[in-house]
Amino acid sequence: MKNIILCGGNGTRLWPLSRTLYPKQFSKLINDKSLFQETALRNLSFCESRIIVTNEEHYFLAKDQLDSLNLKNSTFLLEPVGRNTAPAIALACLMLDPEEIVLVTPSDHLITMDENYLYTIEEAKFFVDQDFLVTFGIKAKSPDIGLGYIEAEGNEVISFKEKPTQKKANEYFSSGRYYWNSGMFMFKARVFLEELNTYSKIIFDSCCKAIKNAKAEVPLRIRNEDMIEIPSNSIDYAVMEISRKVKVVPTTIHWSDLGSFEALSEQIPSDSYGNSTNNEKNYFINSKNNLIISNDKTIAMIEVEDLMIVDTIDALLISKKGHSQQVKKIVEILKLEN
Ligand code: GDD
Ligand code: MG
Repeated sequence: MKNIILCGGNGTRLWPLSRTLYPKQFSKLINDKSLFQETALRNLSFCESRIIVTNEEHYFLAKDQLDSLNLKNSTFLLEPVGRNTAPAIALACLMLDPEEIVLVTPSDHLITMDENYLYTIEEAKFFVDQDFLVTFGIKAKSPDIGLGYIEAEGNEVISFKEKPTQKKANEYFSSGRYYWNSGMFMFKARVFLEELNTYSKIIFDSCCKAIKNAKAEVPLRIRNEDMIEIPSNSIDYAVMEISRKVKVVPTTIHWSDLGSFEALSEQIPSDSYGNSTNNEKNYFINSKNNLIISNDKTIAMIEVEDLMIVDTIDALLISKKGHSQQVKKIVEILKLEN
């Protein structure tokens, strides 16, 4: 089995911790390994090799992080610009033997590798062998609008809804019938490419052309003129919402997509008042349910509630907890100004 590791996102919801030049997957947010390194290690025992699909400006960063783990058998596929996950996965699948089984994983999730994880992968393989596209369902824990939702009965997918409106997400959550889409997928390369060809032919054709034109060199780079011709779309919209060959493996693995500061906050131990920080030099006085992330500076909070402070060398974020999905707006404004 091959592990396709998707590394091309910018993780804008964690600004200023996650930056264009140093996105969240490469940051050591929780321990001394980056989320990207943890991803490669987690799948090592059942994926004999991996394809890293990333932006060309992150090549050396990704390579250094793998080299420092002494991980062999990594192939890089470099994109001059990102076109979202459907093209990234298609390009990687086109490099492989069509019957190869791939485990597609985001590079920026926090997942615990244990018996449960291994069992989940085994279960998925059962459906992959029968030519299905497998998704992994995490029981929805809140009506989060940043995720995909899978309506399921056993392993049957009744419907797949990518990033619903808040109203719909509330409905899905309270019905109890929906799983969050974990963002990991497993299938044979051929089966995914056939479904992509059926439902998003332009992406399929333009990816075939891009791979054909890529120079036969290591690492493999897609030419800019080919990449910009590929329509940008996610696997979720381009295939998963439409395909009838999708199965779900419900799982109780320990999973967080760290898609917001609230999600990150849940992974950092808190005191008895619900305050959490990554840095023991920070202080909370008569304060509750706050988050401080900082490196060098000491930060103190007095008589405040539900506040988040994220301090980095050149940017400071102060936000009320529960509203950090709006961080993306700041990033958009900054992009326009620069
Ligand atoms: N190579 C490459 N190129 N990788 C990319 C690109 C790209 O253009 N765009 C995104 N990625 C990578 C990201 O780095 C991340 O590891 C993964 O692909 C998923 O992309 P996100 O942009 O983080 O997707 P999302 O979080 O909005 O939604 C997806 O994941 C959710 C779970 O976290 C969907 O699959 C949802 O349905 C799912 O619930
Ligand atoms: Mg994500």
